[in-house]
Amino acid sequence: MGGGRGLLERTTAAVIRRSFGDVLGGLATLALAAGLVVPAAPVAAESPDPAFPASPGGALLEPISMWSCGDAVERRVDALLRQMTLAEKVEQMTGSGFIDGAWRTPANARLGIPGFAMLDGPRGVSLMAGRATSFPVAMARAASWDTEFEERVGEAIGAEARAKGANVLLAPTVNLLRHPRWGRAQETYGEDTYHVGRMGVGFVRGAQRHVVASAKHHAVNSIEDTRLVLDVIVDERTLREVYLPHFRMIVQEGGVGSVMAAYNQVNGQYCTENVHLLRQILKDDWGFLGFVESDWFVATHSTELSLIAGLDIEMPVPVYYGDPLRGAVESGVSPLTLVDDAARRVLRVKLCFGVSDALPEPPTPREQPAEHLELALEAARRSIVLLQNEGGTLPLDRAALSSIAVVGDLAMTANLGDLGSSVVEPSFAVSPLEGIRALAGAVSITWVPGPPLTPEGRAAIAGADAAVVVAGLGPEDEGEGGSSDSGDRLDLGLPEGQDDLISTVAGLNRRTVVVLEGGSAITMPWVADVGAVVMAWYPGQIGGQAIAEVLFGDINPSGKLPLSFPWDEDDLPVFDNIAPRVTYGFLHGYRWLDAKRIEPLFPFGFGQSYTAYAYTNLTLSREEMGPNDRLQVTANVTNTGRMAGDEIVQLYVSYHGSRVQRAPKDLRAFARVHLEPSETRSVALEIAAGDLAYWDVKTGGWQVEPIEYGVHVGPSSRDLPLQGRFRIVPVK
Ligand code: BGC
Repeated sequence: MGGGRGLLERTTAAVIRRSFGDVLGGLATLALAAGLVVPAAPVAAESPDPAFPASPGGALLEPISMWSCGDAVERRVDALLRQMTLAEKVEQMTGSGFIDGAWRTPANARLGIPGFAMLDGPRGVSLMAGRATSFPVAMARAASWDTEFEERVGEAIGAEARAKGANVLLAPTVNLLRHPRWGRAQETYGEDTYHVGRMGVGFVRGAQRHVVASAKHHAVNSIEDTRLVLDVIVDERTLREVYLPHFRMIVQEGGVGSVMAAYNQVNGQYCTENVHLLRQILKDDWGFLGFVESDWFVATHSTELSLIAGLDIEMPVPVYYGDPLRGAVESGVSPLTLVDDAARRVLRVKLCFGVSDALPEPPTPREQPAEHLELALEAARRSIVLLQNEGGTLPLDRAALSSIAVVGDLAMTANLGDLGSSVVEPSFAVSPLEGIRALAGAVSITWVPGPPLTPEGRAAIAGADAAVVVAGLGPEDEGEGGSSDSGDRLDLGLPEGQDDLISTVAGLNRRTVVVLEGGSAITMPWVADVGAVVMAWYPGQIGGQAIAEVLFGDINPSGKLPLSFPWDEDDLPVFDNIAPRVTYGFLHGYRWLDAKRIEPLFPFGFGQSYTAYAYTNLTLSREEMGPNDRLQVTANVTNTGRMAGDEIVQLYVSYHGSRVQRAPKDLRAFARVHLEPSETRSVALEIAAGDLAYWDVKTGGWQVEPIEYGVHVGPSSRDLPLQGRFRIVPVK
């Protein structure tokens, strides 16, 4: 066995261990050793069937929608199914392990059917396939509120995945952030279903120019430490209105080809055997035509139940599918029609997306092409959120300052995020200190390690014109996995010593800026003592440069929070990452804080700029509309400051006279606009009456209530200067 294979085995085992913890990681490693997970083998031969192109993917320019795959594909699938034996159909429904740089499902050489080659993930292509561009994490990109830009990021990640031979990208992660302590917060787009949905649709449209995207993890997967066993109890209305609308958008508007069933249970059934989630809602109600694959190794728990529920592929190796499934059909326990349905979905996606398991021809750049690096930098610029800026602390004027102390061990680190399945390995990365040094011009930069501070460090901070503390979380504080890995956060505070570090620096230097890194909300007991606070998230491989550009004012910060930052964890619903069963209520995030009238530290949608914007002149295209209509809303936004900038305009809806519990307001539209100084733009937003419906448990359907609705437009969920009203009237 060659050294390369050994290395790959070790990498695979390490990633498995990170994902599953010691015990399961150990089992998975045993499986690897036993040959269940095969880390090296040649890829399947070229397909003789013209319906499965030998090297497409890279050449596909239009996003592929499952809806555009018509009768011709179904006839082709019919013909294939007629030729396939039961064993061949079942074979299409299992993974074959990690082979030659990707998680694979088998090809069928006899019929020329290619296999799937799957790679993570949400911030770039997994390190398991070598080096790739490391983008800011999804939570950072969510702060850009830029769905078109997210489409470009999705396209770049899809292109790199395809260039490495993959045809399925295990992304985006679109689980709602119910609580900021969730270990995988950084992988998703935030706490609001509408916002998560829009960003996810953007990503999927881009990625699916090259590969099949896989929206994960269906569903209600937002606690890490107990994810393999947890049972989430959630009522039907909450499920339909809060935890699923973003998945539905990604299926129906994004045309996603694949959905990954989560590890956890929902209402007493594992997601992989949850008839309600997979068969009734995803496939029947939403009309999903693609395939459902299980999450990895230990997400599948049964043969018959999973088949009935609508699990189409067991990943990454056959345990309950494979021989047991074939046996179940042969003995009459499981109906062949269900196997046919699953195999049909797999074949349909392969045909619709022109899936090939060969490397693309002509070869495309394998890793980090210059335009992807530029995109990663631009994504970081758009993601950074200026949370506080007292008395013009920022930007730091190079002409007026002679020295800056850059404080904190994290300043020296290119902090890219979690080391679980979303880990990406770039060939280089820029730390905040490197970025600041590169852009400092004549300003002298001194790095001061800490915590703790040395006497020399204190003197350097006190003697500098300004101090920039880089603080925050890292892979040891939050991430995928549980028990032996970081998993869920222990609390919402900074790691030990960092609060004291910031307070001490603020006491030593009157011009103190705090740059925070991390995947979700952080509490800030020192906030009143510092001049400026910048949320930089995990900003990707060139994030250090973007941070420096914001600090020096080369870039006007424009990001806004995709989640609420509370003063204290007690302000939020309880996060229980120990109990085997938890109940999720209707409210969380800003909807919870609004309903309980709790003032957040920084609200959902909040972010400042070096310029200022004024909101005027709200117009509604009508005062009344029917339940199937759409309302056009416009608002004028003016840049009243001296610097060009991008503003994120938000529209929330409130409900007046509703018969059911509603959140005080819900985000229903947003737009990002560029404004030169003194420029005014009329920003167009739209509300679909259908998006205001509630799930009626009595009728088992959506109800658009004939009541009055409020429209609230402004720069954040707690600053909505423009107000309007309209009414929905029943169809006559
Ligand atoms: C994660 C998925 C990931 C899969 C394959 C699982 O542990 O939950 O998000 O796609 O591993 O790496």
